[in-house]
Amino acid sequence: MAVSPLKEQCKALKLAHVPLVYLDIDYHDREQYLHEVFAAELQARQAGKIRRLIRRAGFPAHKTLEEFDWYPVTLPASTTRSELADLVFIQRHENVLALGAVGTGKTHLAVALGIKACVEGKSVCFYRCLDMVNTLLEAHRQGRLARLMDELSKLDLIIIDELGFVPLHRNGAELLFNIVARAYEQQSVIVTSNLQFGEWNTVMGDNRLTAALIDRLVHHAHILAFEGESYRLQQALSSAGAKPPDMVGPGKAAIAN
Ligand SMILES: Nc1ncnc2c1ncn2[C@@H]1O[C@H](COP(=O)(O)OP(=O)(O)O)[C@@H](O)[C@H]1O
Ligand SMILES: [Mg+2]
Repeated sequence: MAVSPLKEQCKALKLAHVPLVYLDIDYHDREQYLHEVFAAELQARQAGKIRRLIRRAGFPAHKTLEEFDWYPVTLPASTTRSELADLVFIQRHENVLALGAVGTGKTHLAVALGIKACVEGKSVCFYRCLDMVNTLLEAHRQGRLARLMDELSKLDLIIIDELGFVPLHRNGAELLFNIVARAYEQQSVIVTSNLQFGEWNTVMGDNRLTAALIDRLVHHAHILAFEGESYRLQQALSSAGAKPPDMVGPGKAAIAN
């Protein structure tokens, strides 16, 4: 079947959405019609860009701020929920550290903030800490570390999830530090961890490197303490009709350290 000249023109002009909508748009006058056709094209492009940003970020699941229950979170006095949700920290190149008990929504909040950032056109990456370090080490072995570091340094937000489950090798810890050091005052970093600061050296394996990492991260940071019972545990127990045990996370202690 022959392609219509209009479709060919749209293809040449890269107006992918126009052929899909031009017949459905009401015509009142020339300017209104053209305006609505172009508005539809722009809207479709914007939606495509957001989908690409979300896909490239590599989130493990889709989580939203609307679904997030703030009850386990203690915010510092200088931070408000709405400021966090409005992503003011990204504009200011500040960090968010989500510390505390397992299953209280640290990853959920990090993903939700990351997705909101993508919706606002920001570039984001999400890595579990160990995956990030392995990706960096692999890039190093293949001689493309500098390129990867450059790509990461152009992002608006770097999310490092689950710092603390597995100790890192020396080279890996140094690479992680380099990412954070390059981001300092240039980009935003979100780190989630179930460890108190005093325990981070068990992951980094070196006291000076740990101190330098924490120093860069906390200088302009919103430190959120997550406490209470695990959501997963609560759900599992409530569906089994049982009562959760009294569990207190290390969140507040992390701030005190
Ligand atoms: N405060 C919360 N509000 C809404 N959902 C939560 C909350 N805490 C945990 N969940 C849900 O429970 C599960 C585990 O949460 P997750 O964010 O992985 O916890 P963490 O990273 O602190 O271990 C996820 O499905 C998450 O959506
Ligand atoms: Mg988590």
